[in-house]
Amino acid sequence: MDQYAIHGGNPLVGEVEIGGAKNAALAILAASIMTDDPVIIENIPDVRDTKVLMQAMESIGVIIEHLDRHTVKINSRLINGYSIEKDYIKKIRASYYLIGALSGKYKQARVALPGGCNIGLRPIDQHIKGLKALGIDVTLDFGIIVTEAGQIKGSHVYLDVVSVGATINVMLAAVLAEGQTTLENAAKEPHVVDLANFLNSCGANIKGAGTDVIRIKGVSRLHGTEYAIIPDQIEAGTFMFAAAVTKGDITVKNVIPKHLESISAKLMEIGCEVSESDDAVRVVSAKPLRPSHVKTLPYPGFPTDMQPQIAVALALSEGSSIVTESIFENRFRYVDELVRMGANIKVEGNSAIINGIPKYMGASIQAPDLRAGAALVIAGLAAEGTTTVDDIRYIERGYEDFHLKLKLLGAQIERIETERDLQKFNLKTG
Ligand code: EPZ
Repeated sequence: MDQYAIHGGNPLVGEVEIGGAKNAALAILAASIMTDDPVIIENIPDVRDTKVLMQAMESIGVIIEHLDRHTVKINSRLINGYSIEKDYIKKIRASYYLIGALSGKYKQARVALPGGCNIGLRPIDQHIKGLKALGIDVTLDFGIIVTEAGQIKGSHVYLDVVSVGATINVMLAAVLAEGQTTLENAAKEPHVVDLANFLNSCGANIKGAGTDVIRIKGVSRLHGTEYAIIPDQIEAGTFMFAAAVTKGDITVKNVIPKHLESISAKLMEIGCEVSESDDAVRVVSAKPLRPSHVKTLPYPGFPTDMQPQIAVALALSEGSSIVTESIFENRFRYVDELVRMGANIKVEGNSAIINGIPKYMGASIQAPDLRAGAALVIAGLAAEGTTTVDDIRYIERGYEDFHLKLKLLGAQIERIETERDLQKFNLKTG
């Protein structure tokens, strides 16, 4: 029974240090096996997804030394296998980056089909299309993706869908290929750019990351490097919306404000004051929230990973809002939980029609996936009374010390494991 118990009503006030970007760290950890030299990676978030991926890497002989909680030294010289089929690897989506990395470096891989949050079908046809275009043979063997290549030759790859995962996997498979690869309709997310920067710091030749055309000139080998992961724009955005929802005043520190532009713009549109400095953004929510229409889009549009969080805010605004999810097919599973807290939301197709209410009421709810789970915690922080959020393992996949950071901002929240813990919490919070 791992849950968060939350007693709502406190405005969150203060500063919060944002950690390294989970989705950049996963891509860069996978990429680090493509050099035989030691690699030091800093600012890795200490979350379940990065732990599981590093476990998978160690299972094929990668030596990982933890220099501190957020820094690892990776040595892949003694890799002794290319097969990652254990069940645990299905828990995370990013396991499939090892397909691109192992294929690109060793021209072979056997990796279990990925898991990840249940937010939609999440096919990998574009990954396969890209790998095949590079001359890599890809087959499915009872849930295991098997790749094999004689020679990997640069090619022209046009992604039919803007896919972060496919962009990353093709980049990994192409970086040591013979000749040039042009990847069109590429994803432009900051973590795609971070991966390209990491690979270039290892001697790769990648141009155009951050635009929709990425050019990769294959090189013969990659050398070691020391690299620091960018800050997590979604962790930052989650705390920024926590300020909006709890009528608080939060400064997120160690961020890149440019990566947060669409989030800051929406917060200002719904009535928050947002001020930026070099590596921090402050959000003050003093006025009633205004309704808005928002549609999730690939970067630099409003991120799909922030969709539940803005919906939680709009459900408390004065008026009607529409949230349209254009990336995933099944990313409104949290709406039922919010309705249990009093929200007035109807889902029609890929849109949620939201009519604002004055206040949430505490309830016992469940986290349906990583980002929705975090958004429901934020709703509990604003609710009257006590909320318990179950299935918090989803949240711990992507947020390091989430409840501890919230407590430092004034939240009444505890991580509870037994009924006794809950009784103690209720007694303490009255
Ligand atoms: C990455 O998922 C992130 N995960 C997701 O974050 C994020 O929501 C998503 O990108 C979009 O930004 C990681 O980086 C580990 P996509 P990914 O491929 O790569 C379709 C989180 O909370 N598609 O960009 O799986 C797909 O179905 C997670 O940290 C195909 O059709 O996302 C979706 O509709 C949740 N064929 C759309 O593209 C393919 O081959 C975007 O998916 C691949 C994708």
